[in-house]
Amino acid sequence: MPVLAALADMPDPARAARAEAFERDLAGVFGTRYAVAVNSGTAALHAALFAAGIRPGDEILVPALTVVMTAAPVVQLGATPVFVDSDPATFDVDYADAAAKVTARTRAIVPVHLWGRMGDPAALAAFASRHGLAVVEDAAQAGGTSRAGTAAGTAGSAGCFSMKDGKILWSGEGGFVVTDDADLAARARAFRGHWLTPPPGERPQQHLAVNARLAEPLAALAHANLHRLPALLERRRAQSTHLLHALAGARGLTPIRSATDETWNHYSPLLSIGLPRPRAFADHLARIGVPNSTGTFHLIPCDTRPMFSGGARPPCRGAAQILERTLAIVLTDRDDEAGLDRYAAAITHASATWSG
Ligand SMILES: Cc1ncc(COP(=O)(O)O)c(C=O)c1O
Repeated sequence: MPVLAALADMPDPARAARAEAFERDLAGVFGTRYAVAVNSGTAALHAALFAAGIRPGDEILVPALTVVMTAAPVVQLGATPVFVDSDPATFDVDYADAAAKVTARTRAIVPVHLWGRMGDPAALAAFASRHGLAVVEDAAQAGGTSRAGTAAGTAGSAGCFSMKDGKILWSGEGGFVVTDDADLAARARAFRGHWLTPPPGERPQQHLAVNARLAEPLAALAHANLHRLPALLERRRAQSTHLLHALAGARGLTPIRSATDETWNHYSPLLSIGLPRPRAFADHLARIGVPNSTGTFHLIPCDTRPMFSGGARPPCRGAAQILERTLAIVLTDRDDEAGLDRYAAAITHASATWSG
């Protein structure tokens, strides 16, 4: 039991041997030069954005199609999230909308691979290079996804992942940053530990930072799960295939497929709801025990959240349309076939009888 072994070695405040070993193997799995383990996906974004040079007054392009955790670290750094729309046909960033929102203060874009689905990395790279932006990916849900041969989290300057329970690679709480950039890695590492161990050429505590270290028992758990990542990915793919197969006859529900050049981790099985009042249908499913993004977690376009909706900008309609019509079922690796069959039976019955 790796967690028990970690406990037996504690306390050892001077070392983080398990977190360091986890980081070495993470970098190997993602094929990056560096990995920095932290205590949440939010902290991964916070550290990566600071390390990428984001400072007060900067503007950061963030898809409205995301959870609040993508935008919160931007605000905590004193920068402004500028919400950009998504294309309802592909779920990718609407780059025409994003281009229209670039100003002299725009420094970075944070593409979000929601539900594990990844946008076109070539379009992202072209946009970022045209506007001189850093790319910090929110790949919190996208471990194991790739597109056109590029793994989610490795398409830009840094990739940020969450290991909160429910993620395919999980440790209860946790996260990490992957990057090929030595300076960015050193700065993210310094940030997660109150800048006590500064990058070369800087003084300890030169910047105000945070404690976002990954605790050793969680690093041991994460490391053990990393070793079985191929099995965890295969399980999620099999669960998703099983559920979608069982839903084949459900009224008004059409599976949403990945792009042809995308290897999707199947984080959340996705269906387009072609029923009256689709969002109310997803809410109803949550109430009868089928967890899903909008019904259970009340996912709404981030630009319409009360703390962000004060501006004069028109709402991001593509993101709103996607969230109105998409049923994203929440799975964990504990969901067995009997449980998935119960979900399928409940959804099939609800869709047959739904009148809005
Ligand atoms: C898309 C996305 N971004 C960021 C986060 C934040 O991760 P954490 O909850 O580990 O802070 C999550 C986690 O739920 C997420 O799904």
